[in-house]
Order: sequence, then C-alpha cells, then structure tokens
Amino acid sequence: MKLFLDTANVEEIREAASLGVIDGVTTNPSLVAKEGRRLEEVAREIADIVDGPISLEVVSLEAPEMIREARRLAAVHPNVVVKIPMIREGLKALHAVAQEGIAVNVTLIFSAAQALLAAKNEAAMVSPFVGRLDDVSSNGMGVVKEIVEVFDNYIFDTEVLVASVRHPLHVIEAAKQGADIATIPYAILEKLLRHPLTEQGLEKFLADWNKQSAALAGSA
Ligand code: E4P
Repeated sequence: MKLFLDTANVEEIREAASLGVIDGVTTNPSLVAKEGRRLEEVAREIADIVDGPISLEVVSLEAPEMIREARRLAAVHPNVVVKIPMIREGLKALHAVAQEGIAVNVTLIFSAAQALLAAKNEAAMVSPFVGRLDDVSSNGMGVVKEIVEVFDNYIFDTEVLVASVRHPLHVIEAAKQGADIATIPYAILEKLLRHPLTEQGLEKFLADWNKQSAALAGSA
C-alpha cells in the first residue's frame, strides 16, 4: 500500500520524506492557497524531495480550459498527476487528456458510480473523500469498499486513492480493504507512528539500564 502526504507545505513533506514511507504527494487548491505560494513553484520543490506522483489540481470549470490547464500542469514535471474534479466537464476533460498520456487523479469522488465512470475514461487514480462522507453521516469507507470490489471485477488500471483521511483508523481500514493508496495529512502520519506504550516501554528500558549502569560504576 502506498502512502501519500496530503499537503502543499514543503517543510512537512521534507520531514515526512526523511522517514522513508512517503510515496507521493497530493495537493488541492485550498492546501496551496494556505501556503500563499505559486503552484508551479511549490510543485518543483516537492519534486526535488519526493520521487513519486504529485497531484496538482485544475481550477477551471469548462472542459476546454481544464484540458489547457491539465497540459500546462503536466508539463511542470514528469511526476505530476493532474487532479480533475468529478463533474460532467471534468469527465470530458479526462477523456481528452488521458488519450494524450496525461495521468489524471479524479477528485471529489463520493460514490462507486462516479469512480466507475472515471475508471472507464482511464483515470490513473480516483480519490474517494472518506472524511467528508463521514461528516454527512454516510459511510466513507463503505464507498471505498464498493469501489475496490467494482475495480477488482474488471481490468481497470485505475488506482483507488483514499482521501480526506481524518484519523489512523481510516488508513488501517483502507489497507484492509485493499485500497492502493491513502493520502494523509502530516498530523495523521504522526499519529500512525506513535503509540503511548512504545514511549512508556522505552522510558522504562532506559531507566532500568541507567540505574544498573550507575550501580556498576559505583561498585567499580
Ligand atoms: C486529497 O486529495 C484531498 O484534496 C484531501 O484529502 C481533502 O481532505 P479534506 O476533506 O480534509 O479537506
């Protein structure tokens, strides 16, 4: 299972990449706006840190403009995956740019039906937003399960990228259900890494070791 970092913050990406577990990065217009920087500039810096797919999202709403934007973003770096929203015009744009060999991550997916349409148009990835589904009393991971089941019945190359991850259990459930990728905020990576019993256990080991070392030093 691949783990992507869901951020446009280069320092977070640098720190997460140093752990060796990050396979790619996803951004969206809100995340880039939060950094107050130009998308292309951020993308090039990310590409210097992480050798894997980097999702950059189009902001146009009509297919012809989306196509132009997708070509421009794809030219920024060979690892760029263009994010296109799952709307009627997005489906048209996906159809056009996938034929040109541009990798597309179809975003804002909230149902297996939407994922199926994106896969038929040769999306490289689909991004079901599990947290936002949970927020409206729907079962986000249930949608992921359906998508994995549908894709497994056919020969789609489209990867299932679990997005809008809010806690570590979303990641574990995604892995259990065979999703290809989970994209996670930096704070969730920290939560995956830590366990209080690991910290308590290490503290006790070192306290015992230091006590005994001091006793040995005293008897020498
Ligand atoms: C990633 O591709 C999405 O843009 C992101 O996971 C959305 O997360 P949010 O619902 O927490 O904003």
